[in-house]
Amino acid sequence: MLRRATRLIFLLLLGILNDVARLSAQEIPHLDRATGSTQLIVGGKPFLILGGELGNSSAGTAAQADEILPRLARLHINTVLMPVAWEQVEPIEGKVDFTILDHWIEQARAQNLHLVLLWFGSWKNAVSSYTPEWVKKDPKRFARAVSSDGHPLDILSTFSKGNLNADTRAFQALMRHVKEFDSERQTVLMVQVENEVGILGSGRDHSAEADRLFSTPVPDALMQPLRAHRDRLSPELSRSWNEKGRNWQEAFGERASEVFMAWNYARYIGEVAAAGKKEYSLPLFLNAQLPAPFERAGEYPSGGPHPYFLEVYRAAAPTLDFFSPDIYWPNFEYWIERYNEQGNPVFVPEARLDSGPMNAFYAYGEARAFGFSPFAVDSIPDVPATLAAEKSPLAESFSIFEQLADILPQAQRDGRTRGLVLHVTSPRPTQTVSLAGYLFTATLARSWPERKILQDDGAMIVVQTGSDEFLIGGSALTVTVTKDVDLGDGIAGIESVEEGSRNGGQWKTERRLNGDQSNQGRNVSLPAHEFKLLRVKLYTIPQR
Ligand code: DGJ
Repeated sequence: MLRRATRLIFLLLLGILNDVARLSAQEIPHLDRATGSTQLIVGGKPFLILGGELGNSSAGTAAQADEILPRLARLHINTVLMPVAWEQVEPIEGKVDFTILDHWIEQARAQNLHLVLLWFGSWKNAVSSYTPEWVKKDPKRFARAVSSDGHPLDILSTFSKGNLNADTRAFQALMRHVKEFDSERQTVLMVQVENEVGILGSGRDHSAEADRLFSTPVPDALMQPLRAHRDRLSPELSRSWNEKGRNWQEAFGERASEVFMAWNYARYIGEVAAAGKKEYSLPLFLNAQLPAPFERAGEYPSGGPHPYFLEVYRAAAPTLDFFSPDIYWPNFEYWIERYNEQGNPVFVPEARLDSGPMNAFYAYGEARAFGFSPFAVDSIPDVPATLAAEKSPLAESFSIFEQLADILPQAQRDGRTRGLVLHVTSPRPTQTVSLAGYLFTATLARSWPERKILQDDGAMIVVQTGSDEFLIGGSALTVTVTKDVDLGDGIAGIESVEEGSRNGGQWKTERRLNGDQSNQGRNVSLPAHEFKLLRVKLYTIPQR
């Protein structure tokens, strides 16, 4: 009797466990913001996006999917960021057609790739060139922003209900369709709503409606959250904010035009996003074109989700899950860290392809990004599958992260990762990161005996895997290890360095490095012109 009851309970528990497993496999992709770094959860598990964004004109036909996606899959990219153009999916008002997108989704599945969709709706790089013909040709219904000298711009106005309603309907249709077509398989992970928005020319729209609103009081819906979060405002916003100001100019001084536009873009995009999210609640985000050094608002798109105004965006567009930098300027570390604040998840949808293989080490290791995606990856020339990893720096670099993907998200969350990138032009020739009581000091690798720098850039990620054990991946660096005296006494030494690979969680040693390959045990060497993964064991002995 008792036995049968125990068996019954056991079967019941098994059933519940099965249900839990099935449900978590069916959970749609979402962000887990528990302490530490935010993670993207796919099929119930953290997923590290090894991304690549397509060129702007690469996703317009079905045939392009067949040619491009197999190539990208060979480069250790696991997620492709692809445009979905409003003009293409709704060429006739009210008649949406997602045939081409469906083919991309199917081809992505065949290549074991995921997709992030980029909604090129009302705006792409500030202007409205991806809007359908019926929008472009009807400026009465679909009002445009106006320049400071009174001319209509190629930029849809944020103040027009006609614009907002039409974009919202199209985006809703997209999200509804993706849900129907893909929620079972979950090939599509996230959606970017619009692309690099903002006003070009002067700092703000000068239409009659914009002028009128600019001289009215700043809405409480903005002032309240700014007051509530005054301790986390960016220096730029807090410096210019006068909470007693009666209109936008008084309230935000020299930043007034930008804050005004940020508020109005965010409200518009927030509404588009909310309508889409109601259909299918994938993570939604927006990217920013970052100011070049010394550029003024209007030279870069004014009112975009720049780090200065994220608080404005959060207040107006709470449905957007995060904001992302497109980093083309050399100070990669500065810009990524500006978005690594106030719980904003770190995801870089666009970055330079040439420096991408190195910057990836900083992004995943130091900024604890859940995704990083160089731009125009389809421009990488194809190579046979057997050679792909050796022939493309991006593939080589991503192959390191692919090997770490099962342990990296947890290590990011626990603070067990560090990363750095060095250039011949870096203001300091050496850089040091501290982890688990050790200091890892890197310099660019040099030849011996000439002592010439072998490669202009080097990078590494350090992941702590045991109390004195680390995986170090990267390229072109010489790393010395010392005790972090701020964290404890003793003298550090290198016990062993192995070069190898990880597969299915198992480490495989391919070479033990010593002698000339470790400068007689003095340092850890990441060779130039290739990317390597090393398992490094360290030890500490008392000082005397
Ligand atoms: C940033 C944009 O978001 C991309 O679509 C592309 O135009 C690049 N700039 C530049 O090639």
